[in-house]
Amino acid sequence: MAKKLWGTRFPKKTSTLTDAFTSSIAFDKRLASYDIIGSIAHAKMLGECAIISKKDAASLTQGLQALLKDIEKKKFSVDMRAEDIHSYVQEALFKKVGSVADKLHTARSRNDQVALDVRMYLLDQIDEIVESLGLLQKSILKFARNNIEVIIPGYTHLQMAQCVLLAHHLLSYIESLARDTQRLNDARKRVDLMPLGACAFSGTGLPIDREKVRRALGFSAVTENSIDSVSDRDFIIEVLADISILSVHLSRIAEDLILWSTREFNFIDIDYSFCTGSSIMPHKKNPDVLELIRGSVGKIHGALSSVLILLKGLPSSYNRDLQLDKPPLFEAVDSIKGILEIATQIFESVVIEKQAIAARLDDEALFSVDIVEYLIEKGVSYRQAHDVVGRLVRDCLDKGKKISALSIPELKRYSPVFEVEALKMFNAQVSVNRKKSYGGTSPQRVRQQLARWEKKLNA
Ligand code: ARG
Repeated sequence: MAKKLWGTRFPKKTSTLTDAFTSSIAFDKRLASYDIIGSIAHAKMLGECAIISKKDAASLTQGLQALLKDIEKKKFSVDMRAEDIHSYVQEALFKKVGSVADKLHTARSRNDQVALDVRMYLLDQIDEIVESLGLLQKSILKFARNNIEVIIPGYTHLQMAQCVLLAHHLLSYIESLARDTQRLNDARKRVDLMPLGACAFSGTGLPIDREKVRRALGFSAVTENSIDSVSDRDFIIEVLADISILSVHLSRIAEDLILWSTREFNFIDIDYSFCTGSSIMPHKKNPDVLELIRGSVGKIHGALSSVLILLKGLPSSYNRDLQLDKPPLFEAVDSIKGILEIATQIFESVVIEKQAIAARLDDEALFSVDIVEYLIEKGVSYRQAHDVVGRLVRDCLDKGKKISALSIPELKRYSPVFEVEALKMFNAQVSVNRKKSYGGTSPQRVRQQLARWEKKLNA
């Protein structure tokens, strides 16, 4: 084990098992640059508040900046025997500047330090995820724009239901992803609080200036209560919850694409570059990337549960349990970033099977609601219209006939209001054109929505 930040009161060494069991360096090493940047702000503040000399503050800052340079040049190799990244940065600084390094931890504890590091890490991650979300939305939008005229059979209960524009379906993804962006940006406000200065949990008797540190690090505000500052991990739960909801949306998108790419649907072709084959069945082209997107929800929701359960019933202030918030957080963040990146690429390359889709639009089941609405427009009550069309559907199914092949006198036997223009209803274009209600699937409405999103996302 490398040099510890404590131990003087220990009459004997800790067991090597304890060292290995308690170490977090294997995962918190990724917080190194945040730890150093936070330390620079802290050292400068100590100097400016005359808690240490200006000269010492300058030496600390220089040494820490040299460590940042090492990270940049990939020359910063972490000693895996260290207890955690905070201890290791301290040790690495000692090697750069000598015993003045011992002054860095003045008026600071790893308890407020780790809270700071994770907040800084999460601010960056939220911004990256939000940016990736924007790129995914843009690539879906482009796909919608390029296929603006395509009508698909829409489904409820996975049973063929009514015609919609493909673009309308795709715009539903854009809407849900936009709420994910809003949620993350909202959570960001509660991440954006500077905890340093809480120290172990009660603050400090030394004349620190938390506001200086806040300004140097670019946080919006300082945390208000030192105990809460080291206890609070709800900012992590909130981000994980937002990522979990996002992952549910992405799993739905993945599932739609998986279904659409089956031979049974044959709505789309997923590019070979995003499929894999089978070791036994030579004919297979499987949508494994999409399946893994769908499957990753388990891992991401597991991360949320993990941190929720970790915190449940934990007493106030810092407890070492809190160390275990990081592996699930990092895993969920890495996972969602990977998903967003590859999902964007998939939408760039997916191909629409226009002819196969058009062939499905012959199915008269798609127009039953249009016939009901036709009857309503002719003065029939909703209930009666539903019954009329229900009988028509049943009789035609029984006799193996098409409703549209019936003569007007035959139709009039079901309802006297049927006229020849009723037959116009058996058409996908007519069907979508009719849905002019706000938020509906008429081309005019969909084009408006498309233009609105293009303007918004390209702003
Ligand atoms: N590795 C610890 C964590 O991630 C750092 C804080 C340790 N604090 C302590 N008092 N032992 O939470």
